[in-house]
Amino acid sequence: MILAGGSGTRLWPLSREMYPKQFLKLNDTSLFQDTVLRCLEISNITEIFIVTNELQKFFVIGQIEELGYEIPPENILLEPVGKNTLPAITFGMHEIKQRFGKSTVGIFSSDHILDKKAMEIIKNVEELASEYLLTFGVVPTSPHTGYGYIKPANPIGNGFKVSEFKEKPDIFNAEKYIKEGCLWNSGIFLFDTDIFFEELEKYAPEINAAFNKIEDIGKLFEEIPSISIDYGIMEKSNRVAVIKLDERWSDLGSFKAIHDEFEKDENNNIILNCDNVLINSSGNLIHSKNGKVVSLIDINDTIVVDTPDALLVCPKESSQKVKDVVSSLKDRK
Ligand code: GDD
Ligand code: MG
Repeated sequence: MILAGGSGTRLWPLSREMYPKQFLKLNDTSLFQDTVLRCLEISNITEIFIVTNELQKFFVIGQIEELGYEIPPENILLEPVGKNTLPAITFGMHEIKQRFGKSTVGIFSSDHILDKKAMEIIKNVEELASEYLLTFGVVPTSPHTGYGYIKPANPIGNGFKVSEFKEKPDIFNAEKYIKEGCLWNSGIFLFDTDIFFEELEKYAPEINAAFNKIEDIGKLFEEIPSISIDYGIMEKSNRVAVIKLDERWSDLGSFKAIHDEFEKDENNNIILNCDNVLINSSGNLIHSKNGKVVSLIDINDTIVVDTPDALLVCPKESSQKVKDVVSSLKDRK
């Protein structure tokens, strides 16, 4: 199951509500296309489900076609309104259970960089998923407050039982969790349909009840609460286990993350789509699609993103704050 319904506000003005980050082409393929290709390593196209919405449906179909595959239309599930990841995942799990019966389902975000080798590991821990809700953890590199923190306890199989799952802690606690040896939640899950619905019934019975008697999917989504899988189930359940992923992973949640992950030129700059003259400038990320020559003089570690209707300039280290610009713009409406 691939979740493709978020908008990625921290990459404004490149990503927009109408053009979310998972469909942006920073390389030859978008992050969404990379996710589909990764899933094809362990399943075929008829077993891939995409949970998305009406607006993004055309990106989904178009970008899969570009890869040379045709996804069955009934595998694209459209949410009438986005209610975050718990309703999105429940929608997918419900549909998969109806179509295939009891199943083990891998759940993937569509906006990550992940080494293909990780798919082998995910495929090989299916057995553990018959007892636990499985998460995949990566070793933290900073006390990032935008991730979930997973505390591994006793070893089981190839992984560990989880003694605590804390979604998006404050900086003080993020530092504490890192000292205690916690892992970041990668946002990848492996769930058995039976265990998922048991835990859903325990911790979000109103969402389970709504999906058990679907009459009108529009009304259902209007009425159910908006909550993520992390707050809704993972923080509460005591049937969670974690498998450590050592492979390259990034959430690409900010321009700094893009700068960290993508290939840079000899001056440590990433220049996307534009002619440029840079004098004594390094560590920058520059994007412009408007046929302009972009020139920087004595500018370091800065993000410059130019689009027809918006220009962003900020220090690379402040690029987490880009979401505040989006909030301000929304407040103006
Ligand atoms: N279909 C659908 N509907 N997809 C959604 C919705 C929705 O309402 N909301 C979010 N998504 C998709 C996003 O497109 C993304 O691919 C994925 O679900 C995760 O959502 P994010 O909004 O990006 O979550 P996050 O980054 O704040 O936090 C999650 O991921 C982190 C790792 O990247 C959590 O699981 C954290 O614990 C985790 O560390
Ligand atoms: Mg994310």
